[in-house]
Formats: sequence, structure tokens, C-alpha cells
Amino acid sequence: MKGQGAHIAVEKVSHRYRRTALQVLDDIAFEVQPGQCVALVGRSGCGKSTLLHILCGLMSASTGNVYIDGARVSGPSSDWVMMFQAPSLLPWMSVRGNVGLGLRFAGRREGLQARVDEMLDLVDLTAFADRNVQDLSGGQQQRVAFARSLAPEPDLLLLDEPFSALDTFTRHALQRDVRRIVKERGLTLVFVTHDINEAVMMADRALIMAPDPGRIVADIPIDLDGERASGTPAFAAAREALLGAYESASGLANPDDPVVAPTLLPMPTTRASVAQPKVQRISA
Ligand SMILES: Nc1ncnc2c1ncn2[C@@H]1O[C@H](COP(=O)(O)OP(=O)(O)OP(=O)(O)O)[C@@H](O)[C@H]1O
Ligand SMILES: [Mg+2]
Repeated sequence: MKGQGAHIAVEKVSHRYRRTALQVLDDIAFEVQPGQCVALVGRSGCGKSTLLHILCGLMSASTGNVYIDGARVSGPSSDWVMMFQAPSLLPWMSVRGNVGLGLRFAGRREGLQARVDEMLDLVDLTAFADRNVQDLSGGQQQRVAFARSLAPEPDLLLLDEPFSALDTFTRHALQRDVRRIVKERGLTLVFVTHDINEAVMMADRALIMAPDPGRIVADIPIDLDGERASGTPAFAAAREALLGAYESASGLANPDDPVVAPTLLPMPTTRASVAQPKVQRISA
């Protein structure tokens, strides 16, 4: 299935790293529908990267399974792409060369240049096509990495804080562009962030994780129509709801405050059960 969003089912995933034997993920279960954008939100060390690595097959969970489009994940695949905080470009190659790398590795030489040109246009880097990547800014390098990820037409993108090293303005522009492109192409997106604004900017839904051991404690829909802009009242309301749920789930909220109650898991794990819980405001 090329160029369509992937369906993800995570079933009872728990994980211990062998070296420390500490349990870092406990009984994680959730489902992501094709074309949905999901943020994994939580404090440092709560297991977000571990979970993302397990989702894309770079690591095996100690117990439990991940299914992508119904097939159990047992290793990496060209149907999904993971992007990290550092763009990991090959410094001796041009922008064009880097964008075409994924296609070359997949042995897809036919139409390669046309596809690379299309990707460069998509991320607005056509004018930089023949530059060496070392001569680009950090934000431009992340665009190159994003274009390289999209070139092989994955069904699923997994992003591990890919914009956290960038300045606010560049990050904001990339968040908007990535959401627009992912939505235009109908891809499924799962991304990790510490940043509540980033979650509201890009996600249809946020899964909130708590640490020790890492687990999902709330599943919050972010229902905002059209392109998202941080100055709007709707954005501010969504941000407040997410922050309230995060603080409540993390035990940070003042118990005397009116709080936004997260819907506690367990979450449905069958494909048929797609309805998402709503956040409810509890009166003081
Ligand atoms: N290779 C490893 N061996 C042993 N323990 C590890 C390993 N990698 C991570 N951990 C531990 O697992 C826990 C979860 O780590 P992980 O990197 O998934 O957290 P994270 O939520 O992505 O954190 P951050 O936001 O800081 O990136 C942490 O306690 C970490 O110390
Ligand atoms: Mg991490």
C-alpha cells in the first residue's frame, strides 16, 4: 500500500532493557487510524523514544506486539520512515543527492530525478538542489531530511523530536508544513514531543505518557479545523485542555482547581472501535 496512511495497532507492549532490567514500558496499547496524526507527549525518560523504536521495528519489545496494516512488525520496512532530532545527512553530498538516498537504497532508480524534484518543490528547496548540505541552515537541513523521508512514499512517518534543536520561527514553519504535507498525502504520523504547542500545532490526538514505568495515561483528541495558528482562541483552548490533562495525569494539578479530566485507558485495540474519547471539563 504505497502513499496511503498506515493503520497501527499496539497490543500489550512492555519493555525492559537487558542491561538495567528496569521496566521502561508497561502494558502499552493503542490504535492509530490511517491518516491520523498522533503526538506522544511526556517528560524526559518516560519511554517515548523506546516506544517509537519499537513501533518502527528498530527494537523488539520484551512482550507484546505491534501490527502495521495487520502485519506484525518484526524489523524496519520501507513502508515507514523514522526521523530523528539530528537530520543525519551525508555531508559530502548535495541536497539532491541526499533527497534521493532512500530511493537509491530501495533500488528505485526509475523516475528518481523527477521524484526528487517533486520532493524539493514540496519542501521549498528547489533553489538549493545543487548546494552541498553543509552550506544549509539547520532548518533547511531538516527540510532535506524530511524530503528524503517522503521520497520513497512511506505510509507512516515516525518523528522523534525532529524540530527541537531549531529556533521558534523555523520550528513553527516546519510544524505547519509537515502537517499540511502529511494531510495532503494522507499519511499516518506519530511524533514525540515535550512541547504542548507542537502537539496542538500538528496532532489530531495526543497520547500522554507517565514515567516509571512508561505508560499511557490519557488519550486526548485535538479537534481543530483548517490550518492551525497559535494566536487563535481555538488553539489556546486546545492547548489549555491538553495542558490540563497532562498536569492532571502527571499529578501536577492543584486538586482544588477545576481540571480537565483525561480519559483513562484501557483504550480499544480493535480496528472497529475507532471512536475517540472526549475530554470533559469537571465543574469545581
Ligand atoms: N539502551 C538503554 N539501556 C538501558 N536503559 C535505557 C536505554 N535507553 C533508554 N533507557 C532508559 O529507558 C527509559 C526511557 O528512555 P527513552 O529514551 O525511551 O525516554 P524518552 O521519553 O524518549 O526521553 P527523552 O524525552 O529524554 O528523549 C529511561 O529511563 C532511560 O534511561
Ligand atoms: Mg527520547
